[in-house]
Amino acid sequence: MAPLLREVFFTLTFIHVFLHVADCVKVIVGDPFKFPVNCEPGESGTLLRVFGHNDISEVATCHSGKWTVKMYKDRMMINSSKIGFNRTEYNDGGVYELRFSKPKDLVQLEVVAAWKVSVVEDETVTLPCYFKTTGKAGLTVVWEKNGKPLCVKNSRSDGCSGTSDRLSMSTDWFTHGNLSLTVARVQPGDRGDYFCYVQNEHRNHSGNPAVVRLAVREKKAHQITTPATPVNVSELCEPN
Ligand SMILES: *[C@@H]1O[C@H](CO)[C@@H](O)[C@H](O)[C@H]1NC(C)=O
Ligand SMILES: *[C@@H]1O[C@H](CO)[C@@H](O)[C@H](O)[C@H]1NC(C)=O
Ligand SMILES: *[C@@H]1O[C@H](CO)[C@@H](O)[C@H](O)[C@H]1NC(C)=O
Ligand SMILES: *[C@@H]1O[C@H](CO)[C@@H](O)[C@H](O)[C@H]1NC(C)=O
Ligand SMILES: *[C@@H]1O[C@H](CO)[C@@H](O)[C@H](O)[C@H]1NC(C)=O
Repeated sequence: MAPLLREVFFTLTFIHVFLHVADCVKVIVGDPFKFPVNCEPGESGTLLRVFGHNDISEVATCHSGKWTVKMYKDRMMINSSKIGFNRTEYNDGGVYELRFSKPKDLVQLEVVAAWKVSVVEDETVTLPCYFKTTGKAGLTVVWEKNGKPLCVKNSRSDGCSGTSDRLSMSTDWFTHGNLSLTVARVQPGDRGDYFCYVQNEHRNHSGNPAVVRLAVREKKAHQITTPATPVNVSELCEPN
């Protein structure tokens, strides 16, 4: 094959492999991530990072139930048969290959920065998310929490189907590209990570921001009604 043709061929093969990554896993930068593989006794295999079609590096190897870390030694965490980053960095995003006895598996890791929102219990909060919807028909918006769809919205379904009446999205979301989710009467259990994405028939696209991390603060009403504990100021610092 001529060099140019070969380049095109390998590039296409790489794109093909890339598009056939079974699962695109999103992780928030700084959070831990475990690879979906077990190094069991009697098992052998390799965890690789695929930078390009000709650029593959060994991250760790597994021999008879024991992991040996080759890359990212300062952040790789081994917990019995599992391996992963104890703290992801933004540059960790990319394609990883699990070459084990089973057919090889590809994992596409997407490291995303979370937008942080904090709200006091019982109040209403809006989790921002935007996506350019101009000229794109047949879109479905999905808000997901803990890997479960929380709100699914498209031209056929209006409102957060099958979920709490405390959740809502603007009915004009498509016109304005504003997919923000409003959570009313916030409860402690609402804290967590909310992923926002848009689906068409081919793939999922992240909204902007891709994820909102919601913190719920306790209502401190008792601290307003109860007087503060008197402090003996002279005890706070050792006199010189
Ligand atoms: C992350 O892993 C490294 C290497 O195993 C270890 O030295 C470090 O203490 C770990 N950090 C945390 C926060 O667990
Ligand atoms: C190891 O994994 C177990 C089970 O997944 C978990 O309960 C434990 O906290 C982990 N230990 C460390 C040090 O991460
Ligand atoms: C987007 O919609 C939410 C309500 O769903 C609203 O609170 C927010 O202000 C809107 N954003 C802009 C920029 O208009
Ligand atoms: C979109 O993401 C969801 C949840 O992560 C997944 O179940 C679905 O298969 C994805 N769809 C496509 C077309 O990748
Ligand atoms: C405050 O602390 C000082 C020094 O320990 C002590 O002499 C004094 O009695 C204390 N006053 C009160 C109101 O507790």
